[in-house]
Amino acid sequence: MQISRRLRSMPPYHFAKSAQLIAEKRAAGVDVIPLTMGDPDMPTPDPVIDRMCAAAHDPMNQRYPGYYGFPELRQAIADYFQRRFGVTLDPDHEVALMLGSKEGLAHLPLVMLDPGDVALIPDPGYTTYLMGTLIATGTPVTVPLSAERGWLPDLGAIPADVARKAKLLWLNYPNNPTGASANRQFFEEAIAWGRQHDVLIAHDNAYADVTYGDASPLSILQIPGAQEIAVELHSFSKTYNMAGFRVGMLVGNAEVVEAFKTLKTQIDTGMFNVIQHAALAALALPPSWIAGRNAVYERRRDLLVEACRSAGLELAVPEASLYLWPHVPAGETSRGFTDRLLDATGVVVTPGVNFGDHGEGYVRIALTAPDDRIAEAARRIASLQPKATGTRSATATGTGKPRKASRKVTEKV
Ligand SMILES: Cc1ncc(COP(=O)(O)O)c(C=O)c1O
Repeated sequence: MQISRRLRSMPPYHFAKSAQLIAEKRAAGVDVIPLTMGDPDMPTPDPVIDRMCAAAHDPMNQRYPGYYGFPELRQAIADYFQRRFGVTLDPDHEVALMLGSKEGLAHLPLVMLDPGDVALIPDPGYTTYLMGTLIATGTPVTVPLSAERGWLPDLGAIPADVARKAKLLWLNYPNNPTGASANRQFFEEAIAWGRQHDVLIAHDNAYADVTYGDASPLSILQIPGAQEIAVELHSFSKTYNMAGFRVGMLVGNAEVVEAFKTLKTQIDTGMFNVIQHAALAALALPPSWIAGRNAVYERRRDLLVEACRSAGLELAVPEASLYLWPHVPAGETSRGFTDRLLDATGVVVTPGVNFGDHGEGYVRIALTAPDDRIAEAARRIASLQPKATGTRSATATGTGKPRKASRKVTEKV
């Protein structure tokens, strides 16, 4: 018996490593503050819970759900798009439910790629773009992001032969892990590039509603012509503090959305009706609920930005997303710094290199711990002393070199 090459080629999910580190430190008596996962700590709003509980008592909701979700839920999603972005969607053909947006990230490559077809993957980026491509036996080609370009890819630098083989380009703004946002001009360029090369643009907009100040991230579907060549993925996890519910939606190009729905009929038999009721209640929440929740994240962001700066870490202040992305001090690697920070303060962050080679030199800090723990983490980070010169940092890997495992399976542009 042998596990498939496809599975064996996959690097381990990086949060498993940090969970192990946290457990070890706690076992050693350290008061650890994990700022690693973008898993909202604040509760799901009561109207969502109340509707879910009521729906659970109805025996009709305990049976198999329909394949495509309640028509009224797809309509409510279309209404949200109209309200929030001014985008008109046909709820029957341009809206599909996903069991969390990660499910869509993993399955969309099966819709678009035949073996060997290229998927263009941002580096650094959320790891499921790569994993989904590997599951579909596509060929991942990384597209580097850099601070100099505001963490936006240089689409003009993608070689013509790569563009010819490409079927799918992943984008994600507001961005995980960098916290960067994209403007209309970039989305226009991306749509023009996709149309020129006949490549589906899949925009992961999981953080569209986690915003600060006046920021109001765009939907790529606001760009004229986008529906011909683009889809967008949204998540209830971050927007409504519903990470455990596993709800998201894929919207946009009807041919792709329909194909995705067809694939899912063979995989998951739809979304639990009770969860669909919860999703309907979430979409009916007033905008003031989202604004109030975002105000909490914004205070946390400001505390941690100040703490990073006090510790001499340079960073841009994100206008959306759940993440800070500070540069580690000169001469340190992202893994080395992560380990030094943990040893010195008990605060756990994620090395940027876990999101791809181009994340080297940065760490990701998530804003998803309770306020008092964020305040304590900020105090500890601010007190971090510069690394003593002439000593090696105590890295868990020992080498401090960028990780190669995940990149072995990718080509680069
Ligand atoms: C960029 C991005 N996309 C998608 C997801 C997956 O979200 P979910 O599957 O909970 O909808 C995450 C989760 O952290 C994310 O950061």
